[in-house]
Amino acid sequence: MIDRARQAMARAHAPYSRFQVGACVRAASGALYSGCNVENASYPEGWCAETSALAAMVGAGDRELVEVVVMAPGESPCSPCGGCRQRLRELGSAATRVHLCNPQGLLLTVSLGELLPHAFAGDLLPGSSGRP
Ligand code: THU
Repeated sequence: MIDRARQAMARAHAPYSRFQVGACVRAASGALYSGCNVENASYPEGWCAETSALAAMVGAGDRELVEVVVMAPGESPCSPCGGCRQRLRELGSAATRVHLCNPQGLLLTVSLGELLPHAFAGDLLPGSSGRP
C-alpha cells in the first residue's frame, strides 16, 4: 500500500499548493485502489487524494473499506481533511486503520474513530441501514 501511495503521490496534480498527496485504500475483497490530489485553477473544485482513491474503489465495485494509507512530504503526518474523514467513514468503520506516511515510511497510525468521533453515518437516517 505504501508503494502504491508513493506512485500516486508522484502523479498528483498540485500546481497551486505544490503539496502532492497520494492515497491507497484496501477493500475487504483485498483489492487496492490508489489516487492523488487533483487541484484546479478554480481552487474549490480541486479534490483530495483520499477522495480519488475512494472513487476508484467504488467505481470498481468495492464498497467496504478496511485500511488506508495517506502519503505526503515532510515529517509531520498529513491528516485527512474533515470532508475526507466523512467520506472515509461512509465506506469504512470506526475501526478502519489510517496510516499516515511520508515517502520514507510510516509516521503514525490512527483509527477512523479517532479521526472522526461521534460520526454522522447512514444508519442514523430513518429507513436506511446505511448499507446497500
Ligand atoms: N490534500 C489531500 O489530498 N489530502 C489530505 O489529506 C490533505 C490535503 C490536498 C488538497 C490540496 O490539493 C493540497 O493537499 C493542499 O491542501
